[in-house]
Amino acid sequence: MALSADELREAVRRRYAEAAVAVAEQEGGCGCGSGACCGEREADSASFGEALYQAEQRGELPEAATLASLGCGNPTAVAELVEGERVLDLGSGGGIDVILSAKRVGPTGVAYGLDMTDEMLALASKNAGEAGIANAHFLKGIIEQIPLPADSVDVVISNCVINLSVDKPAVLTEIARVLKPGGRLGISDIVAEDRLTPDHRQERGSYVGCIAGALSRGEYVAGLEAAGFEDVSVEFTHEVADGMHGAIVKARKTLEPVRKGLPVVQAAAQAGCC
Ligand SMILES: C[S@@+](CC[C@H](N)C(=O)[O-])C[C@H]1O[C@@H](n2cnc3c(N)ncnc32)[C@H](O)[C@@H]1O
Repeated sequence: MALSADELREAVRRRYAEAAVAVAEQEGGCGCGSGACCGEREADSASFGEALYQAEQRGELPEAATLASLGCGNPTAVAELVEGERVLDLGSGGGIDVILSAKRVGPTGVAYGLDMTDEMLALASKNAGEAGIANAHFLKGIIEQIPLPADSVDVVISNCVINLSVDKPAVLTEIARVLKPGGRLGISDIVAEDRLTPDHRQERGSYVGCIAGALSRGEYVAGLEAAGFEDVSVEFTHEVADGMHGAIVKARKTLEPVRKGLPVVQAAAQAGCC
């Protein structure tokens, strides 16, 4: 029997809570090869997690932050952060991208990490403390209802999280709300080729493993445009399963986030998103 949205979100939360506890207890987490999180097979070790960060960046991080890396890319490498900016990382996990972002934006900037899983938030705060970071703030909440005011951040990043959301139009709407006009989105995610139906995606991997819930490239573009973004691009970087790719998604918030007078969620649905 199919799970409800609440049950699915709870399954995701439980899985990543276990992952955080395993990393905190130095058991290596749920990363590649354990069958537990994003990157479920031994063969996934080059496609998910710490391998996607340059050695130089890994050197800037506490070991536990690197171990807890469960992403499918490196959004800090594409976001082109500038000193003084305010950055928000959706689904910040063990804090790897928040720590790297906090260093990029410097003491006059701020890096927020948002996650729904208490165990991940605790791990991220510990990692940021060990890295000596003072300008990082970790917030508890869901990415479908971001606990920040409108027009309050310059850049939104995220690493392998939006595929896990049970309400993707709400996430895209919320990103548009919290970004300042002209603000940037630079995320890594798993994205399907347009030829794959939702059933095809489900055949290729689990929901908690970041495969079954992935949007297709066309759905991502339509959803972002409907939410009020322009200059949208989705670039495949590495294949993680037949027709499923690690991808870099970039976009810029327009000055007019509601298209043709439609509320963004309705516009997203009409555009065929999600
Ligand atoms: C695959 S891990 C990625 C963590 C981190 N971005 C990284 O690259 O290591 C997914 C993270 O997103 C969080 N998450 C998943 N769905 C979420 C949601 N709807 N709202 C908030 N956090 C969510 C999980 O708790 C987990 O920490």
